[in-house]
Parts: sequence; C-alpha cells; structure tokens
Amino acid sequence: MTLTTLILAAGQGTRMRSSLPKVLHRLAGRPLLEHVCRAAMELGDPRLLIVHGHGGERVREALAQVPARWIEQAEQLGTGHAVEQALPLIPDGDLVLILYGDVPLIGTATLRRLVEAGRATGFGLLTVELEEPRGYGRILRDEHGRVTGIVEEKDADEAQRAIREINTGFMAVRAGLLRKWIGRLENDNAQGEFYLTDVVAMAAQEGIEVRTVRPDDPFEVMGVNDRIQLAALERHCQRRKAEALMRQGVTLLDPARFDLRGSLEAGRDVEIDVDVVVEGAVRIGEGSRIGPGCVIRDAVIGEGVEVLAHCVIEGAEIGTGSRIGPFARLRPGTSLAGGTHIGNFVEVKNSTIGEGSKVNHLSYIGDTDIGTGVNVGAGTITCNYDGARKHRTVIEDDAFIGSDTQLVAPVRVGRGATIGAGTTLTRDAPDDVLTLSRAPQKSVPGWRRPRKEES
Ligand code: UD1
Ligand code: CA
Repeated sequence: MTLTTLILAAGQGTRMRSSLPKVLHRLAGRPLLEHVCRAAMELGDPRLLIVHGHGGERVREALAQVPARWIEQAEQLGTGHAVEQALPLIPDGDLVLILYGDVPLIGTATLRRLVEAGRATGFGLLTVELEEPRGYGRILRDEHGRVTGIVEEKDADEAQRAIREINTGFMAVRAGLLRKWIGRLENDNAQGEFYLTDVVAMAAQEGIEVRTVRPDDPFEVMGVNDRIQLAALERHCQRRKAEALMRQGVTLLDPARFDLRGSLEAGRDVEIDVDVVVEGAVRIGEGSRIGPGCVIRDAVIGEGVEVLAHCVIEGAEIGTGSRIGPFARLRPGTSLAGGTHIGNFVEVKNSTIGEGSKVNHLSYIGDTDIGTGVNVGAGTITCNYDGARKHRTVIEDDAFIGSDTQLVAPVRVGRGATIGAGTTLTRDAPDDVLTLSRAPQKSVPGWRRPRKEES
C-alpha cells in the first residue's frame, strides 16, 4: 500500500492575532509546517500533499524546498471538507496519513506505529489520555473497548465530556474507504462544519476496527493555537535539544538558557555558557568554549577555540585554538586560520586571516587577505568601499600595522612591512621597510585656550 501523507494547514489561526499565517510561525527557528513535513518525509518517500487556505502563497514560498503538492481549500468548511479537496489526487489503494500543520512535534516513531495500525485494519487513529481534555474531540468506546466514534466537545453531553481519551486528529486510513465516507459527511452539528472525525463512527458501523495508537511523548500531539502554546512548545523543544547535546558530551551551563534554532554538531567537552543562540548549521570542535550571550549562525568553529562573551558570528570559519572576542563580530566569508586572535569591537567580513595573526582592538577588516604572523594595531580600518565598488586589501606575512591606520583599497602591504601609526595608506607598501604618512607635528607658542567671558 503506497503511503500518501496529507497535511491539513488551511486554518486561519485567528487566536495567534497575526498577519502571518499560523503555520509559518516559527518553532526552534523553523516554520511549524516545516516540522510536520520533516517528520513525514522521514517515513521514507511518501507522496506529500498539503491543503492550504489562508495566506497560501506565502506558505508555499516559505516551504518551497519541500517536495509537496499544494491543494487550495478556498473556504474552510471543516476538516472533512479539507480532506475532500485532496481526495481526487489520491488513488483508492493508497494509505492516507492525515497530519495537522499546527501540531509540530509529532515524531516519526509514533507515525510509523500509526501507519502500521492503518495497514493492519484499514484505520489507525492516534489518541492520548489527557488530565485536562478541554477543547478536544472525545473518543467513544463500547463495552468491549472498541472505538465507536468521536464526539466534538461542542456537541458532547456531560458524560462524554468526562472522557479523558481524546482525538489528536492524526489518522491513517485506506483511501478507498475514506472516499466513500467523506462523501456521506453532513454538517448538522454545533459548528456547522464537515467533521473528518465523523468517519470514525462510519468505520465502526461497517465493522472496520479503528485501531488506536498512543504517542511516545504527549508533547508530540500538542497543537499551537495561540502564542502561549507556541512558547510552551518552544521551551519543551529546546529542553529536548539541550538534553540531547548534554548526552553527547556538551556542557551547557544552564540548559534553560540555551537556544538551538537549527542544527549543532558539537565535539566532546564543548562548553556553552548562558544565553547563547545557535542558528542554521553550526559545527563546534572538541574542547571549544562559547562565552555568554553569543549568537552563532552557519559557522564552523575548530577545536580548542575560545569565543568570549557577546560575540556575533555568522557565515565564518574559525581555526583551531583561536580566540575571539569579547564583543567581536565575524560576518559571512570570514575564514580564520588556527591560533588567530580577534579582539573586542573588531568586525571582520569576507576576509581570510592566516595562522597566528592578531587583530585585537577596535578594527574593521573587510575584503582583506591577511597572511600569517601579522599584527594589526588598534583602530585599523580597511577602506574597502569607494561608494560604488568593493576593493581588496592584501597584508602579507609578518607585517605590522600601526594603530589607527587606514588602508585604502585596493592596496597591498608587503611581507614583513611595518606601517607607522596613523598612516593613511593609498599606495602599496614594500616588503620589510617602514612606511608611514604623517602630517608634521607642531606646537603653537603663546596659544591660549578660549575662556567664557565673565559678566
Ligand atoms: C480537531 C478535531 C478534534 C481534535 C482536534 C485535535 C475535527 C472535527 N475535530 O478539532 O477531534 O481533538 O482537532 O487538535 O476534526 N483545517 C483545514 N481546513 C478546515 C478546517 C481545519 O485545513 O476547513 C486544518 C487546520 O488548519 C488544522 C486542522 O485542520 O491544522 C485542525 O483544525 P481545527 O479547526 O484546529 O480543529 P479542532 O477544532 O481543533
Ligand atoms: Ca486545533
């Protein structure tokens, strides 16, 4: 039986009070709907269909990399109506796995068991027991424990409301059966909607066993209806990621104050201080330490690197044993060899810096290639932009750049050259010698500082 995964994502998300479609709100850095798609795709290679409505174009654009077919549900007339829109694209012989775009933490292992139940009887249903079942559809069972139907809370009587087993909405049903039942749905209920859940009673009446499956973790089936629930899921998700990292040998000084919004591959004995945010794809080598308050995005950090407090690192590579910060900013295209030092209030962009070179204080290094063993003095600026184009600066091995130097690109500093403090370098500086530009110093005899007149 071929598997088709159908994700319902047409709901308005009114309670988010947002101009962004609900399924595009982010959890751990990714749109809610992307989490669901990833879980589905891990099942193997299922056909993926997504029913969209509100904000459809934006949703499709945001998930352009997901290999799905998109189906519009122009009017949201209920979950049954949403499924009906997709049925023409699904052959009778398929097994249809129905997921919700706003229930992001669903796990692949749980989905596998749900699919197995669907294959076994034609109808698998994911349910869970909740202490507080308010708002959910309740599972009805007969005296033998067989599922006989689902009643929505708004349609339930008092006895039914006391039932704690609820419908998560996730099911795996044979397409041919689904088609037959969906065609018979009515909307004569409290919400005037076509309820997908009504197919459960139809299955039971035909003697088809609705086989229930429980999630591994109750958070897997929690939906996002408002920003409070979104924040609660974010915390849960972050806690799980932090625990996984700690199990791999990473020290998190406070797992509650660490946020991973992407993927982190970290070696043993990496130590991460509080309030660090990791985004995109990041690798950190063994024994490296990240100070408090750093933001690291799409970066490769070698072994034994020390990143001191409050650095922002994006699109950069940092070689073994380097020391960065505090308060440094590494921008995309930065590649630092081993043993480099980048100090406080230094910005580096689209530049390579060789083994053991140092830029320790208050400098801007942009579009520059620096060799090995170079020392760049405080307040050095590479003037890489002439207002129209960017130009490169080259600083060869063992050069020494005096403080407060401006290097007006394109320009080259030769091997072993020394540039005097305060130089504005507009032409290449030769190897080994001192080059400087400096206005002559003078003192003005008899000069008096102006004073305020007394009245
Ligand atoms: C639904 C279930 C309820 C279950 C609960 C679990 C029905 C009738 N009820 O209720 O038994 O306990 O989920 O969270 O199915 N959607 C569409 N098009 C529509 C309506 C909804 O695509 O016309 C999508 C929504 O975007 C959402 C999902 O279907 O992803 C569920 O819809 P929602 O309105 O939240 O259903 P509930 O009332 O919560
Ligand atoms: Ca809901």
